[in-house]
Amino acid sequence: MNFAGKKILLTGAAGGLGYGSALEFVRHGARLIALDIKPAQGEQLQRDAKKIGSGSLIYVNQDLAEVDGLRKTVAELVKKEGVIDVLINNAAIYPAKTFEEFSLEEYRRVQMVNVEAGIVCAQMLVPPMKQQRYGRIVNITSITVYGGWANLYPYVASKASLIGLARVWAREFGPYDITVNCIACGAFPTDAEKIHPDPEGYTRFVLEHQCLKRRGTTQDVAHTMMYLASDYSSFLTGQTLNLDGGWVMR
Ligand SMILES: NC(=O)c1ccc[n+]([C@@H]2O[C@H](COP(=O)([O-])OP(=O)(O)OC[C@H]3O[C@@H](n4cnc5c(N)ncnc54)[C@H](O)[C@@H]3O)[C@@H](O)[C@H]2O)c1
Repeated sequence: MNFAGKKILLTGAAGGLGYGSALEFVRHGARLIALDIKPAQGEQLQRDAKKIGSGSLIYVNQDLAEVDGLRKTVAELVKKEGVIDVLINNAAIYPAKTFEEFSLEEYRRVQMVNVEAGIVCAQMLVPPMKQQRYGRIVNITSITVYGGWANLYPYVASKASLIGLARVWAREFGPYDITVNCIACGAFPTDAEKIHPDPEGYTRFVLEHQCLKRRGTTQDVAHTMMYLASDYSSFLTGQTLNLDGGWVMR
């Protein structure tokens, strides 16, 4: 795949799945704008991207929970970079506790980071995409939306919202050749998994449920992101690809 000349905004780019995916896009020629709140990892990401050559990467430190700051940052990006062709809403927080333990404020914070920040980014990036009559939006969601996981209700609600948004946006932006799709990730060994108290038991649980008897990798995610961000998926929109080694089938 060749992303030369394509500009991509990837949120949560310093995280477990984002970091390797960002580098994979650079390897394939993209100009990758990596947004996160981890400056040290962001600088390392920039250094790693330089070693690859091919495309290029800039790290942008921005808290997605700060709406005004986010608007300003994305507006500056558009001014500096021009039209951003691809938006990948990948950043997420995933606090885990029982329903009673969550306050409404905590619920709202999860929606802000996981969903509303993506809406703000889309508000800023879609009008120029419409003008150029081309764009790609990829929302990273989770197979937890299909049921089977307790104690994660703000997160699961946020991931279901991203699927709903993708369907409406696909309908609305389709006439402008902007596609909107989701990747529902299964279980990938990143920080997100550290919420499980028994790592080995969790790996056994994962492998029992998957058709494929290996753990998913960042490359698996990166390749699916790249497919949905590329012209190879130009007739696919409003869809959710379950990237889970054959766990759920729907
Ligand atoms: N790893 C898995 O097994 C798994 C499973 C299902 C879905 N997912 C989804 O994949 C995506 C990536 O997850 P991951 O495993 O890489 O998790 P991760 O925690 O390693 O990465 C998430 C990134 O988002 C960033 N982030 C969080 N809050 C932010 C904020 N306020 N502002 C800016 N950035 C912020 C974090 O700093 C982090 O770098 C998420 O959307 C997650 O829900 C992952």
